[in-house]
Amino acid sequence: MLNKKVEKAINDHIVKEADASNAYLAMASWCENFGLRESTEFYYEQSIEERGHMLKLVRYVNENDGRAHIPAVKKPKEDFESIAEVVDLSLEQEIAVTKSIHEIVALCDQEKDYGTTNFIQWFVQEQQEEESLFRSLKDMIRMIGIEGVSLIMLDNEIAKLRQATAVEPN
Ligand SMILES: [Fe+2]
Ligand SMILES: [Fe+2]
Repeated sequence: MLNKKVEKAINDHIVKEADASNAYLAMASWCENFGLRESTEFYYEQSIEERGHMLKLVRYVNENDGRAHIPAVKKPKEDFESIAEVVDLSLEQEIAVTKSIHEIVALCDQEKDYGTTNFIQWFVQEQQEEESLFRSLKDMIRMIGIEGVSLIMLDNEIAKLRQATAVEPN
């Protein structure tokens, strides 16, 4: 049985995963309009991934005698200066999500909810991977810039990242 405080914290976190999914959807759409083909696919995939995270949490709550709440759709930011801004905001979003996951870990500890401690570890690892992914993109942009041919190089790098992450079991 799920601890009530933990249940509330997971429900609050469900909102963050839903918002992240929607934010990445808006970023994918921006990339598509801008013409960055690989970045477009990458961000559509990210959006699906975040929805998957949300579902994982919804089902965990419901399967453990709790009640999951489905959040309203928040309007995401749709206009961006450049792909650099998109990547910056992605990393910021991931850092905020990580913080929220870590708060759940701390709460589980405090409430001695060891089942959820175990369950939430998957998210702890996932967040490490996500942060590192967006940090590497940010580094790339810092090194090559986003002018002219650099944009094509960056899009190619994103293609490689897509291949690298596609083989990982989810
Ligand atoms: Fe997520
Ligand atoms: Fe994420």
